[in-house]
Amino acid sequence: MVIARFRVRRNMRMIAQPGERLNKAAACGKRIRQTELLSSRSSPGKRTRKWLRRLLLISPCPQVVNKAADRPGRYRLGRISKEKKMLGTTVVKSEVGTGVLTYDYRDTLLTSEKVNWNLDDIIGGDKKLDFSKRFMPESLARVEELTFLDADEKRILNQIRGNAYLSIFVIVEEFIVPFVLDHVRPALDTDDYRVRAFLRFVEEEVKHIQLFKRFCEEFRAGFPIECKVIGPAAEIGKAVLAHNPTSVALAILMIEWMTQEHYLGSVKDDSDLDPQFKSLLKNHWLEEAQHAKLDTMMVESLVANSSDEQITDAMDGFLAIGGFLDEGLKQQTQFDLESFEAAIGRELSTEERETFLTTQLQANRWTYIGSGMVHPRFRQMLDRLGSDARNRIEEVAPVFA
Ligand SMILES: [Fe+2]
Ligand SMILES: [Fe+2]
Repeated sequence: MVIARFRVRRNMRMIAQPGERLNKAAACGKRIRQTELLSSRSSPGKRTRKWLRRLLLISPCPQVVNKAADRPGRYRLGRISKEKKMLGTTVVKSEVGTGVLTYDYRDTLLTSEKVNWNLDDIIGGDKKLDFSKRFMPESLARVEELTFLDADEKRILNQIRGNAYLSIFVIVEEFIVPFVLDHVRPALDTDDYRVRAFLRFVEEEVKHIQLFKRFCEEFRAGFPIECKVIGPAAEIGKAVLAHNPTSVALAILMIEWMTQEHYLGSVKDDSDLDPQFKSLLKNHWLEEAQHAKLDTMMVESLVANSSDEQITDAMDGFLAIGGFLDEGLKQQTQFDLESFEAAIGRELSTEERETFLTTQLQANRWTYIGSGMVHPRFRQMLDRLGSDARNRIEEVAPVFA
């Protein structure tokens, strides 16, 4: 198996056992092994491999927080946005890069109020998962590449990936909540629309966590076996939040744009998905659209007065978070293999397992990292951080394709 061949450290695993704590080095993304990262289908060039090796050996923990980035006026306003006050709301306008982004706290809040939904609108009562259907779009699940599986087995694997999707979004949204609260807390008296928009962002993420957990319960009730997932969410969140706030904000921005790509790029036009799961992804997308805009404004404010060195530090941290999450995806892929074999009641051959782990790891990388990393709006933000930021991401993106 790939996992065994590359001798992944036992103490770097992330398993959802109540009360179990992650190894600190693993939690901080320290000493991440490169071999498996570089074994992807899309092989990066020599320069990228060299750069990745150097990057992921950076220890991000303990993290030196970029305090200056959060202190307006310390550095001259440089590459980023122009902010101006207009009738109690902040308009962030940026004209660098491939287009113009104009977001507004008031407009974002009003849109959020319009698209709002309740949990019971989405799940519960007669709204049940249909286990005769696929849950995930093929562009994310990539089960068709496993030609040694029959149609039923591919559907079962697709559903296991759907369950992992629910759990992984619980993990990421649980660290987004305290991060956004920390961001809004120091400036409660400057712009009421800003405060309301961010508090609504938080409320929606908590609601999404509940929604994903409700779907997890439905899955457990209808699926023949218990599927293992990475965790605990609190420990993973603690490791991510130990990074520079700008690095964390960039990671969250990537995740928010990623959810937009998932629905618009893969789910919306797939008429054969389970209607309930599709409804989950659609309703999540509706509210995440506002989060992506608010996150854009959050990153803008964090980097507005940053020096080039601080931007470089933030990018180091962002990529270290990506490397840490990638370790979690490797573990989840191994769990998915174990769950899959238990669900179909047979073991794959050694060769089939290797193919499973390789293709499914790549599918996970694309789902949770790559699809956000290449999103045009995320790249637009990178442009505004400077050519070095954009180039660094473009070099690493093929690993997550
Ligand atoms: Fe969400
Ligand atoms: Fe969100």
